[in-house]
Amino acid sequence: MSRHVKLPTGETVPALGQGTWQMAENANRRRQEIESLRLGVELGMSLVDTAEMYGEGAAEELVAEAIEGQRDQVFLVSKAYPHNAGRQALAQACERSLRRLNTDRLDLYLLHWRASVPLEETVAGFEDLRRAGKIRHWGVSNFDTSDMQDLFAVPGGEGCVTNQVLYNATRGGPEFDLIPWMAERHMPLMAYSPIEQGRLPRLGPLQEIGRKYDASAFQVALAWLLRQPGMIAIPNAASPDHVRDNHRALEIQLSPEDLQAIDAAFPPPRRKHPLEMI
Ligand SMILES: NC(=O)c1ccc[n+]([C@@H]2O[C@H](COP(=O)([O-])OP(=O)(O)OC[C@H]3O[C@@H](n4cnc5c(N)ncnc54)[C@H](OP(=O)(O)O)[C@@H]3O)[C@@H](O)[C@H]2O)c1
Repeated sequence: MSRHVKLPTGETVPALGQGTWQMAENANRRRQEIESLRLGVELGMSLVDTAEMYGEGAAEELVAEAIEGQRDQVFLVSKAYPHNAGRQALAQACERSLRRLNTDRLDLYLLHWRASVPLEETVAGFEDLRRAGKIRHWGVSNFDTSDMQDLFAVPGGEGCVTNQVLYNATRGGPEFDLIPWMAERHMPLMAYSPIEQGRLPRLGPLQEIGRKYDASAFQVALAWLLRQPGMIAIPNAASPDHVRDNHRALEIQLSPEDLQAIDAAFPPPRRKHPLEMI
């Protein structure tokens, strides 16, 4: 089963992808991490998120190995450090990422978090790379609503296709203003740490609802995200069993009662909360 989300450019991407943070940090786990990513791609979770920061390039190299022979099936996302957000530095960082990823283009290149470099310059850098065919789309990460407004106020800023932020059933903050702001612009949100880094509360409605669907709290938390239009989730799974479990979350249709129970335990925001980061 798969589900897709439309970017503002009209292209569709899988709603359920895969993250890679903390991969490539332990040689004993490498085989299993590669196997997990490959399985995820086979199952259709073919949006793969990485960053130059992860393992200082080692995660990108691991992704290259995992997607070898399948590059065209993958929607490949990487991110630049804020200290590489200047026009020239961004071009150089992108070249290094492309080399490590063993590819000639990124499908999506994100600014990892807001830099002190003026946004005009970063947008110009992204647009240079897009015109040169080095990246197909660009976006941002960890941008709150006011940052998005600033971005859209600079020339070309509306070319941004997504914002990757911390969002899950236990952290509803972005629902107050960021998600509606992006939805008005037909821009999907990419939810990171969608299962709270594996630290969901041990007891509560997510587990209870899971029993109804023969699912874990993690699968319920993913289904909670995936039911929302314009939502991309990128769980990180370093074991094939976790990948299969996460994929099965696509089959869970939460009922209105389930959603009410989740809202009761984790009340939706009634005022602005500054965007959180992990
Ligand atoms: N833009 C940013 O600033 C930013 C920040 C954080 C993360 N991210 C991206 O978002 C991705 C996901 O976020 P995350 O890694 O922070 O956290 P996450 O995906 O919420 O949680 C990952 C943890 O959950 C465990 N897990 C995965 N599937 C499971 C399942 N079905 N059942 C039980 N446990 C499961 C994993 O264990 P195993 O590893 O053992 O499978 C791992 O410990 C990252 O990999 C990264 O690509 C971006």
